[in-house]
Amino acid sequence: MSITRFLTGITTSGTPHLGNYVGSIRPSVRASMRADVESFYFLADYHALIKVDEPARIQRSTLEIAASWLACGLDPQRVTFYRQSDIPEIPELTWFLTCVSGKGMLNRAHAYKAAVDKNNATAVDADSDISAGLFMYPVLMGADILMFNAHRVPVGRDQIQHLEMARDMAHSFNHRYGEHFVPPEAEIEESVATLPGVDGRKMSKSYDNHIALFSTREQLRRSIATIVTDSRAPGEPKPTEGCALFQIYQAFASESETEAMRASFASGVSWADAKQVLFERLEREIGPMRQRYEALIRDPDSIEQVLLAGAVKARAVATPFMARLRNAVGLRKLGAAEHSITSKPARSTLPVFKQYRERDGQFFFKLVDAQGKLLLQSRGFASPQDAGLAIARLQHEGVGALDSMVENVDAVDGAAAQEVGKALQQLAGTA
Ligand code: TRP
Repeated sequence: MSITRFLTGITTSGTPHLGNYVGSIRPSVRASMRADVESFYFLADYHALIKVDEPARIQRSTLEIAASWLACGLDPQRVTFYRQSDIPEIPELTWFLTCVSGKGMLNRAHAYKAAVDKNNATAVDADSDISAGLFMYPVLMGADILMFNAHRVPVGRDQIQHLEMARDMAHSFNHRYGEHFVPPEAEIEESVATLPGVDGRKMSKSYDNHIALFSTREQLRRSIATIVTDSRAPGEPKPTEGCALFQIYQAFASESETEAMRASFASGVSWADAKQVLFERLEREIGPMRQRYEALIRDPDSIEQVLLAGAVKARAVATPFMARLRNAVGLRKLGAAEHSITSKPARSTLPVFKQYRERDGQFFFKLVDAQGKLLLQSRGFASPQDAGLAIARLQHEGVGALDSMVENVDAVDGAAAQEVGKALQQLAGTA
């Protein structure tokens, strides 16, 4: 079974609403339960600094989003669940990617361009009030994704461009320094873009048209009451097309429930009754989670512990991977650098590990001696990190490590153990 790595983050700049739940929290929790999926979910608090300069709001939002994810059934045993700012490797990788990202590419980012267009529409300077943080947003996001070599990134349509940029960064880096990154793909949740808010436009913090995921039962009822409807009287048939109330209902209801609602629209249900049905349907899903949410919010220390444990798990991947990337770009111990200051001659006098990716998506390596003779051939690894770890073991432990690696690495026929041992010894000084 091949494992797909999912990764997604939520910016900690507000209180989760139904749009976040339907578009991000619910599908990510569902995906995390699949046996063939490995999930990395995180609180994007570095991203929040770009938009929010109220420290208390960032802290509160981080607590609320973490509690929401957990209350909605995310199991931190299964998922690597962490806070972005607990992973110092992410800002370090951001810098590496900054250095392979074209400034022109960043100039074309939608969010930055929209801010420039807005300035240009008035008399002020084009970059007035635009922080370098906003400009660099896509690179930080690229680092989030590439740090864990995620295959699939569930996001809304508005994030597709960021995913394309992350792919671009992966290619540029790989081109310069060898195959280290898997170009990620966006996983588009169709309903994200379409869950309307109470005014019929996309539900969004910035339009102030959202319904909070966790408020009290009464507040939920009041929010539903504000959903805009038309003046059709009870008894008059009502269209479902473009009706916010109907679309929100549909995002929670089963197919047969949706059909029943469609029928009652056709037969002239009153708006008040339709809102009552929506309220009850939402309450059925959210009510039990609300209790868990409230208990979690009352105990921030326990959430803190969950996040710190998640950071340990995340860094078990990030720290060795970052060490490999530092080495790849030339940030190395000075003694080790001797062989590679002029990398071309070094290549011809030393054996090398060559890493590559096959079309089936698996990662391989081989060891060839200085004359190009193949000595070791690996089997497929799920990630470049796993392949990198195996190489690191061979470099550090030498030929002895092979005994415990029979599952993953084959000595090639005709290459004597002695030759392999010698090659690994030559390489030992370079690791
Ligand atoms: N930019 C995303 C948003 O607005 C949040 C985010 C940050 C993210 N880093 C990410 C999403 C990495 C997916 C992957 O909502």
